[in-house]
Amino acid sequence: MVSYKELGLVNTREMFAKAINGGYAIPAFNFNNLEQLQAIIKAAAETKSPVILQVSKGARNYANATLLRYMAQGAVEYAKELGWENPQIVLHLDHGDSFELCKSCIDMGFSSVMIDGSALPYEENIALSKRVVEYAHQFDVTVEAELGVLAGVEDEVQAEASHYTRPEEVIDFSSRTGCDSLAISIGTSHGAYKFTPEQCTRDPKTGRLVPPPLAFDILDEIMKKLPGFPIVLHGSSSVPQEYVDMINKYGGKLPDAVGIPEEQLRKAAKSAVCKINIDSDSRLAFTAAVRKVFAEKPGEFDPRKYCGPARDLMEQLYKHKIIEVLGSDGKAL
Ligand code: G3H
Ligand code: 13P
Ligand code: ZN
Repeated sequence: MVSYKELGLVNTREMFAKAINGGYAIPAFNFNNLEQLQAIIKAAAETKSPVILQVSKGARNYANATLLRYMAQGAVEYAKELGWENPQIVLHLDHGDSFELCKSCIDMGFSSVMIDGSALPYEENIALSKRVVEYAHQFDVTVEAELGVLAGVEDEVQAEASHYTRPEEVIDFSSRTGCDSLAISIGTSHGAYKFTPEQCTRDPKTGRLVPPPLAFDILDEIMKKLPGFPIVLHGSSSVPQEYVDMINKYGGKLPDAVGIPEEQLRKAAKSAVCKINIDSDSRLAFTAAVRKVFAEKPGEFDPRKYCGPARDLMEQLYKHKIIEVLGSDGKAL
């Protein structure tokens, strides 16, 4: 058993309280590899932004659980080396789908876990989330639970269609589970295809798809029921058109990819939404940069020569999110 406190990590409790009061949100960036982690830490250290490093079950299987735990420990030291005296870094399990997985992460130094019982019947979601909370809280690890279903794929949890969070359930759910934060469904979804062209309108000037707005009325109702309670938004990539264009220009094929417009995320960040999850945008930046090098320098075979530019582009992306969208810069001095 290793405590996250020994690794220099923090849980989300204080971070979320400050974010809600300050009208900004904490970035939760997924990572699977060294380059993503380097870019996240560099962006957070240079902007002095609190940050959540998110690891999915798939990422843990891909990178190896032991290696990941040491990478997170190394990330804290790297942040200090970059001149960030008091790094505020959370290591969080994204979309945990069982008590055993959550326990394994807590026992290996995670400071926060998500138990995603959103696809289960209501009472089963409560029972599972409560069990994780009871274990996690013994070690001062914070727990995110989810109510309502996002469209698309949630790690290995497949949802055919979304159903929005029901505001009438949130008080009962949060009080009976004891969760520290609540992931809700108000129209976001995972991946680079968040809306079908039929759900969007087209901008007559650019021909680009314009997605429908998020259900801010539902968010408002949830905030009225749970004043000051930390709310989490999954599926919050914006799918920047410049990366999609770059990918398509250099041999990729991502027609009509569409994400959540940044103005909507800015608005959410000012509310009780205090954690915003971003994974797909980083994947797009990585792929765009690698494709460009491959197309322009077909003789290149040193991975540093294409993973390096990918890392730089992701760092730019993370800084943009922190400063221009979430407003978390300078909040972890
Ligand atoms: O919500 C899902 C995250 O983007 C993680 O995706 O399960 O492919 O690692 P993954
Ligand atoms: P995106 O696919 O929109 O980046 O969402 C990521 C996410 O919610 C991770 O849990
Ligand atoms: Zn998610």
